[in-house]
Amino acid sequence: MCGIVGYIGGDQAAPILLSGLEKLEYRGYDSAGMAVYTGDSLQIAKSKGRLQVLHDLVDGGKKLPGSVGIGHTRWATHGKPSDINSHPQVSKSGKFAVVHNGIIENYQEIKQKLIQKDVNFVSETDTEVVAQLLEYYYKGDILDAFIKVISRLQGSYALGILCVDDPEKLYAVRKDSPLVVGLGEHENYVASDIPSILNFTRDFYRLKDNEVVELTRQGVKIFNMEKEPIEKELVHVDWDLSVAEKGGYEHFMFKEIMEQPKALRDTISPRIKDGRIVLDDVTLTAEQLKQFNRISIVACGSAYHVGVVAKYVIEKLTRIPVEVDVASEFRYRQPILDSNSLVIVISQSGETADTLAALRESKRLGARVLSIVNVVGSSIANDSDDVLYTWAGPEIAVATTKAYSTQLAVVYLLAIYMADLLGKLSAEEYDEYVRELQALPDKVEQALQNKEDIQYFASKHFSAKDIFFIGRNLDYAISMEGSLKLKEISYIHSEAYAAGELKHGTISLMEEGTLVVAIATHQQLLEKMMSNVIEVRSRGALVLGLTTEDNGQIEKDVDFLFTVPSACEIMRPSLAVIPLQLFSYYMASMKGCDIDKPRNLAKSVTVE
Ligand code: G6P
Repeated sequence: MCGIVGYIGGDQAAPILLSGLEKLEYRGYDSAGMAVYTGDSLQIAKSKGRLQVLHDLVDGGKKLPGSVGIGHTRWATHGKPSDINSHPQVSKSGKFAVVHNGIIENYQEIKQKLIQKDVNFVSETDTEVVAQLLEYYYKGDILDAFIKVISRLQGSYALGILCVDDPEKLYAVRKDSPLVVGLGEHENYVASDIPSILNFTRDFYRLKDNEVVELTRQGVKIFNMEKEPIEKELVHVDWDLSVAEKGGYEHFMFKEIMEQPKALRDTISPRIKDGRIVLDDVTLTAEQLKQFNRISIVACGSAYHVGVVAKYVIEKLTRIPVEVDVASEFRYRQPILDSNSLVIVISQSGETADTLAALRESKRLGARVLSIVNVVGSSIANDSDDVLYTWAGPEIAVATTKAYSTQLAVVYLLAIYMADLLGKLSAEEYDEYVRELQALPDKVEQALQNKEDIQYFASKHFSAKDIFFIGRNLDYAISMEGSLKLKEISYIHSEAYAAGELKHGTISLMEEGTLVVAIATHQQLLEKMMSNVIEVRSRGALVLGLTTEDNGQIEKDVDFLFTVPSACEIMRPSLAVIPLQLFSYYMASMKGCDIDKPRNLAKSVTVE
């Protein structure tokens, strides 16, 4: 996720910006840059790569002597990581410099209008439209132009801007993307989060959406969109720095679990326009889609589990046969593919060696490859014919949560989109799916509210040696993810089993007190599932049921029950996975495990 630091004061700005950006490194980034007033001009230094590259470029700050500046670490969204796409982005004449976090959803529309007015764009970023639009609207009053620009923007943004015409001021604003204002003695700051400038100040203003800030050395003025001044309460913080970096949470994994509603909103909302799913990044036509006689999904780990969900969902909606493989198997099993095959590759990092090799093998055999990836410009994204990005932001914890959830969301978007192209959905069905997609982030937010119940349950069972996860259909797919999450971070052995298959194997392991998590959200299969619950309970198992609110009647048939908000059948996995993530987290936490960095595991596996 990008990071912003801005400074105006009596000291040299560049070293302060570098120090703040260093503290924001944990958020993940692929390039960095800064703009500083030196004399009467704005000097820009920016580069793809680590912060050290920027550090060397400005010689630790020495090459940029001014005392007003803005700095940025970029996590690529629109446009690959490159020097040109790095921030600050500047306007045509170099008058405005802008740093930005978030996504400007209507940037294409603004860009087209500006191109018609002879504005040339040099980068692929959505951010550049802000810089160019500022210059376009600017008639001598920076604040007026800034407010006008903000009122044109849709999406999420935290912005820091400088204008050559007034080197004594720095402006900023936020909407759905964090930004704080830090106050010092004859110096003031803006930053993406409090920890990044905690070394310099402990007094802050927390900004609300569309509150515009004007910083000078002497003070800070805050305005609403009508340019009326706003009074804000000063917040003094005395937190410990390491806790603060995790947003006040003890672990990145927990922070990322809690970020899921936002990550889902960022992934879904830019792709629904006027009630229609718009996948700008996919160039597949209905004719091409009709040519495909099969779809193969390839991935590793949790991404593979998304693939298992995708198989059920895509087959149900499009009636195209789908197979799903773990990449390390796929690449060596001589897959049968040709130009009538679509291969969907799923990967958070976009760099997993087995997945990349499977992609290359698919292309060699003539298949078309569409990838679902979180990291812009990654190898998998680069080598694919079509890319659908998940907008989860960087994930730090090894065990994936928000990337997994956004991958599921992209699968729903894609399945509905393809089914519509193939004419498989009535207008009513289509509208209903779109409504369900739009409601999903709020429902996930609700599902997160019951975390204390799960924490309590975990506190009673964290010494379990084996735990079984059972389910049918999509609930089986979710069982796999629940089981993997638990194994990864709590080191408790567990198995995921298709509930109907129990009697052919795992039921022999049931004994007095064995803990079984039964996922039962699938309406049509509820009775069958409850028969399996009876089977294991009659052999002594203790059953934790997990279902949707509308199936609460199963409470009497299980030992404990967790419910999540209801949703249409294909989207229930997104809700069922929430208590499972929390369950793993709390089990690992009770056991005192190293949650963010589980033993022997790596976030990105770039070797075979
Ligand atoms: C590693 C991680 C898993 C992840 C898998 C696939 O094994 O520990 O959490 O699911 O790689 O990673 P990818 O980046 O391709 O999604």
